[in-house]
Amino acid sequence: MKQIKIADGIHMLSMNVEDMLFEGIWELANGVTLNSYIVKGEKTAIIDGVIGWDGVPETLYKSLGEIDVNPEEIDYLIVNHMEPDHSGWIENFKKINDNFTIICTDKAAKLINSFYGDGEKIKVVKEGDTLDLGKGKKLSFHPVPNVHWPDTMYTYESDTKTLFSCDMYGAFGRMEEHYFDDEMTTEEVDFFENEGIRYFSNVMGTFAPMVKRAIKKSKEFDINIIAPGHGPVYRQNPEKIIDDYTRFCKYSAGYGKKEITILWGSMYGMTAKAVEFVEKVLEREGIKVNKLEMPLESESEMIATVFKSAGLIIAAPTYEYKMFPPVAAAIEELGRKKVINKAAFRFGSYGWSGGAERELKDIIEKSKMKWDFVETVEFEGSPNEEDLNKVESGVLKLLEKIEEKIV
Ligand SMILES: Cc1cc2nc3c(=O)[nH]c(=O)nc-3n(C[C@H](O)[C@H](O)[C@H](O)COP(=O)(O)O)c2cc1C
Ligand SMILES: [Fe+2]
Ligand SMILES: [Fe+2]
Repeated sequence: MKQIKIADGIHMLSMNVEDMLFEGIWELANGVTLNSYIVKGEKTAIIDGVIGWDGVPETLYKSLGEIDVNPEEIDYLIVNHMEPDHSGWIENFKKINDNFTIICTDKAAKLINSFYGDGEKIKVVKEGDTLDLGKGKKLSFHPVPNVHWPDTMYTYESDTKTLFSCDMYGAFGRMEEHYFDDEMTTEEVDFFENEGIRYFSNVMGTFAPMVKRAIKKSKEFDINIIAPGHGPVYRQNPEKIIDDYTRFCKYSAGYGKKEITILWGSMYGMTAKAVEFVEKVLEREGIKVNKLEMPLESESEMIATVFKSAGLIIAAPTYEYKMFPPVAAAIEELGRKKVINKAAFRFGSYGWSGGAERELKDIIEKSKMKWDFVETVEFEGSPNEEDLNKVESGVLKLLEKIEEKIV
């Protein structure tokens, strides 16, 4: 765990987490940070804690010692969001400090009781409530429900104009030496934008309408620093992450980068022949292509890649009167994440009856995904020249469709 000074009286404690599935699902290809913040006036508050793993609170206590904070003397625990990646350490903390007050929304209070037992000293706060820590450090609290859980709130510190945004404005990706936007190299800026897309699409995507509301709310503050619970701190240009999140909300609603993602699977290589052909067509047209072969690709990567693309190609054969299951499962997952309004084109091989197309339509319908499809091309067995011509014209129609979807 690293401790980094953010401003006078404010420190970040940041730990890298790898080798775990985030939320028990998402592969962390490049890790993630859990950021916790200490605000020191006459009283001391810790905003967002960390996960409750073995040895974690102890490393946190050691880091606190390095910035002259005795954990036994922490007065307030500000729980912006009760999810255990930020609150898991509370149980252990109770063993060393029996005189702290938890500050949180009413919804978080209920969760704290059900997850960690009754008996905590909890002060429930509402929109605009304040807490004066002394020495000029004044916090105010602002619920942003359903970003990511119903309990979430922002904490704002008015002296330094810092917004502690918790899951909002977060990103995956480990941090080694650089923690602030102004320290980042161009490569690191790109890295965290991509990790931001992965995080947003994996964790926040389902809640995009509430994220939009939270973006609007953050614009009401005079902000010098955005300090999220995951990923870099923005002090040079907080607008950058606000703009990125605004764009990510658009990705959620069907817009995307000028890229086509081919989400595909093939049992014996028949559909794969058309995929190879399509790649050449797209190369000729100068379009960036992402290929996701299912089930080899991780779900995390699959969702992030589809999410940011303006156009999708679904290439999947029929399997037992339905769609090749790994591709069907991927589309269902995209529905769960509310990736809607995407421009798409499907082709695939079948043997005798077909059935993949019907299942695709069912999934799209059931999840209210409203994808805008170019007419599907299906072929028996191996695609012949005529089939490939049809596939090519489908691809060209898709390229026309994405023109209005590029942001
Ligand atoms: C396990 C299995 C189940 C299949 N089920 C069907 C089916 O229900 N209806 C159909 O038309 N074809 C079915 N097929 C045939 C495939 O759709 C056909 O072989 C197609 O060319 C496979 O394309 P691929 O090589 O891209 O996977 C099945 C094939 C396999 C191996
Ligand atoms: Fe969360
Ligand atoms: Fe989180």
